[in-house]
Amino acid sequence: MARFSGKTVLISGGARGQGAAEARMIVAEGGRVVIGDLLEEQGRALAAELGAACAFLRQDVTEEADWEAAVAAAERLGGGLHGLVNNAGIYDPKPLMETSKALFERHLAVNQTGCFLGMKAVVPAMERAGGGSIVNISSTAGLRGSPNAIAYGSTKWALRGMTKAAAIDLAPRGIRVNSIHPGPIETDMIRVWTNEVRAKRLASIPMGRVGTAEDVARAVLFLLSEESGYMTGAELSVDGGVSL
Ligand SMILES: NC(=O)c1ccc[n+]([C@@H]2O[C@H](COP(=O)([O-])OP(=O)(O)OC[C@H]3O[C@@H](n4cnc5c(N)ncnc54)[C@H](O)[C@@H]3O)[C@@H](O)[C@H]2O)c1
Repeated sequence: MARFSGKTVLISGGARGQGAAEARMIVAEGGRVVIGDLLEEQGRALAAELGAACAFLRQDVTEEADWEAAVAAAERLGGGLHGLVNNAGIYDPKPLMETSKALFERHLAVNQTGCFLGMKAVVPAMERAGGGSIVNISSTAGLRGSPNAIAYGSTKWALRGMTKAAAIDLAPRGIRVNSIHPGPIETDMIRVWTNEVRAKRLASIPMGRVGTAEDVARAVLFLLSEESGYMTGAELSVDGGVSL
């Protein structure tokens, strides 16, 4: 299948984890990818692995100028900017009474404002490309209450609403916007969990396993591609049933 032949997708936070899995799959399907991340060494290594179809740039999603540079890099790669995965995120789990204002605001800046800036930045380029698809990576922590997630969870709930608001605003411009809600996924992000927390989380998953980056990437590619051409404002769980 070459669903992405000649098309370019921008992935924030794509140097490792889920974003990296998406980059590999898109290139394998004939597409081109720009990955933005703070992690320069890992980002450059991934770009070298994927060759001419991939470019890396150092990007802080909280900076509007970095988004402009990322969109310009995507247009330079050719084919037109057809997709954005708002994937960059941070997760520093703490209960309410141990969450400082600074920690709360850091989550807002990266997970929520970063996503807002990304959606806004890509619109003119997507219009030039004749339309596009934006996928916002929320979480099951954006579908229900989650322990130690007063900061993280608030941003992931916000993404769910922002997705629907943007889907309405951008439909007349030929741009679809959907959200993905991963459950626990085996990436560096959940290394903060103790063995005890991990065992508890595992016990709550009906399918009895933590997900892989590829589990999420397959759903992201579906929402980026024309296979989901009549879907906008939708929320798709990829969670082994944990949010049921
Ligand atoms: N792993 C899970 O269990 C899980 C579950 C639900 C949702 N998610 C979400 O999935 C997305 C991807 O996470 P992952 O699991 O691949 O974890 P990850 O930590 O491997 O990836 C997150 C990436 O975002 C980058 N990043 C952080 N701050 C940034 C900034 N200011 N600017 C640019 N890049 C920045 C990191 O460097 C990293 O490469 C995140 O939005 C996360 O919240 C993860």
